[in-house]
Amino acid sequence: MSQETPSHPTPDMLLTEIDHIAIAVRDLEAAIEFYRNAFGAEVDHREVVESDGVEEALLKVADSYIQLTVATRPDSPIAKSIEKRGEGLHHVGYRVDDCAAALEAMVAAGATPIDKAPRPGSRGTTVAFVHPKGAFGTLIELVQE
Ligand code: CO
Repeated sequence: MSQETPSHPTPDMLLTEIDHIAIAVRDLEAAIEFYRNAFGAEVDHREVVESDGVEEALLKVADSYIQLTVATRPDSPIAKSIEKRGEGLHHVGYRVDDCAAALEAMVAAGATPIDKAPRPGSRGTTVAFVHPKGAFGTLIELVQE
C-alpha cells in the first residue's frame, strides 16, 4: 500500500536538531570501547531506562548524540530488533520544541504513532515514537528537552 498524504496545512519547520542516532548493540561495553578506540569518543551520559528495557550510552557529537543501546531484558524492543535484523541502526531521534505538536503534525501527515501521547524519555526528556510504516521505513523518536 502506498503512503497516503492527506492534505493539511504545511507546519512551520518543527525539527531543531538531530538529537541522536540510536544503534542497537549486543555488548554495550564492547561498543563503547570500539567508539573510543576508533574516534576517541567518550561517554557523556549513561542511563538504564527500565520502562523501555534498555541501557543507553550517549556519546556527544557537537550538539547531537550517538546512542549505543543494549537490551536489559529479553522482551525489550532492542532485543526483538536485534533478533529480527541484527545489530545496527535502530531509530533516529529528532529534537523538537514541542513533542505533542510535532506528534500531532506527523499524524496529520499520515504517520502512525507508537506513543499516542508524549511520555518521559532518558535525560529527563519528553519523547514520542512514530512507527516506521507510514514514515518511509524509519523508526522516529521525537525528543523535547
Ligand atoms: Co532514542
